[in-house]
Amino acid sequence: MSNTQIQIFDTTLRDGEQVPGCKLNTPQKIIIAKQLDLLGVDVIEAGFPVSSPGDFKSVEEISKIVKNATVCGLTRSVENDIKVAADALKHAKRPRIHTGIGTSDSHIIHKFKSNKDAIIERAVRAVSYAKSFVEDVEFYAEDAGRTDNEYLARVCEAVIKAGATVLNIPDTTGYCLPHEYGAKIKYLKENVKGIDKAIISCHCHNDLGLATANSIEGIINGARQIECTINGIGERAGNTALEEVVMIMKQHPYLNLDTNINTQMLYGISQLVSESMGIYTQPNKAIVGANAFAHSSGIHQDGVIKNRETYEIIDPKDVGVTESAILLTARSGRAALAYRAKNVGYELTKLELDVVYAEFLNFADTKKEVIDSDIHEIIKTTKIYN
Ligand code: KIV
Ligand code: ZN
Repeated sequence: MSNTQIQIFDTTLRDGEQVPGCKLNTPQKIIIAKQLDLLGVDVIEAGFPVSSPGDFKSVEEISKIVKNATVCGLTRSVENDIKVAADALKHAKRPRIHTGIGTSDSHIIHKFKSNKDAIIERAVRAVSYAKSFVEDVEFYAEDAGRTDNEYLARVCEAVIKAGATVLNIPDTTGYCLPHEYGAKIKYLKENVKGIDKAIISCHCHNDLGLATANSIEGIINGARQIECTINGIGERAGNTALEEVVMIMKQHPYLNLDTNINTQMLYGISQLVSESMGIYTQPNKAIVGANAFAHSSGIHQDGVIKNRETYEIIDPKDVGVTESAILLTARSGRAALAYRAKNVGYELTKLELDVVYAEFLNFADTKKEVIDSDIHEIIKTTKIYN
C-alpha cells in the first residue's frame, strides 16, 4: 500500500509571528521563507497583507522568491482584505488566499452579532470573491473546535460549492480533546456533500497542550493538511509544532503517512526562528530542545553508551543534531565518566576509574554540570597522570 501524502502548511510567519514582541521585518521573513521552502513545506502562510503595509510588503517579497511552496495570504471575509491579499500574492508561482469567518455560537453572537444563515452567506461571498483572483482558495471556520458539527457541515458544504479547495477546521482556542477533534473531522468526511472536492486541514492551538495530538488525530480521521509553526510558536500557548507532527509521522511508519519535509533541516531552522524572533526554546522541547538528545542520569547513560536506541527513539542526525550528549552531573555513573574521559584523552583502567569517580562525585556535588575542563582538573587532583 502506498503512503498517503500529508501537506505541511507552515504558518510561522503569520500565526507564529502573533507572539507578542516577536515581530519580524521583511528581510528576516525572507530568510525564514527561503529556509522553509528548502525544508520542503507545501504551503507558506506569509502574512495577513491587509493588516499593515509591512505585512503586505513581506507577502509580496516572499511571493517573488519562493520557488516550490504555495504562498498564502490570510484575510477576513471582507472584500478589501481579499483584494489586498490578491495584490500582495500577484508574483507568487502558486498563490493561495486563506479567507474565513467565525462559526461558533460565541463568535456569531458576540463577535458578529449575526445569525447562522447570514454567516454562511458571508462565507460564500468571500470564497466566491477570492476565487475571482486565484484558483486555490482555503476557507477557515474560525473556532470550529467549539462549533456544532451539524452547522459546521452546512458551512463546509456551502463553501465547497463556492469553490473552496481546502477546508481549514481550526481549534482556535485549543479546547478539543483528541477524540473529539478526530470525530469532528470524521463527521465532516461522512456528512458534507462534495467533500472529496476539497482537502480538510487541521489547525490546532495548544492551550491545553493538545495541539500535536489533535492534529495527528485529525489526520488519522481523514484530514490531509496540518497547519503548524516551527517550535510551536504562536499566540497564547502557541500552535502545533511542525517538527513534532513531522517526526511522529516518520517514526510511526505503520500510519502510512508521508511528508515532503527534509527532517535533517529541523534543528537548524528551529535555531534560526528562535534567534530571529528572540524566543528562547525550552530545553525539554521535543525534537529541537537542547536536552532532547541529552542524557544525564547514570542508568540512562550506561544504556545509551551501550546502544543509543535503549533510550532514544529518534536518531539525532535525522533532525540535524550531530550527536546525543552524555552530560556529567552528580547523577552520572562510571560508564558516563569513562566515556567522557576517553573523549578528552584518558583511557582509564577499572581501578583508575574507581579513584577518579570518587573525586568526580565530590566535585559534581558542587556544580550543576561537569564540563571537559573540569575532567582534566579532577584527574589532575587524583595524581593518576602527572
Ligand atoms: O486559529 C485560528 O482560527 C486561525 C485562523 C485565522 C485560521 O489562526
Ligand atoms: Zn490560529
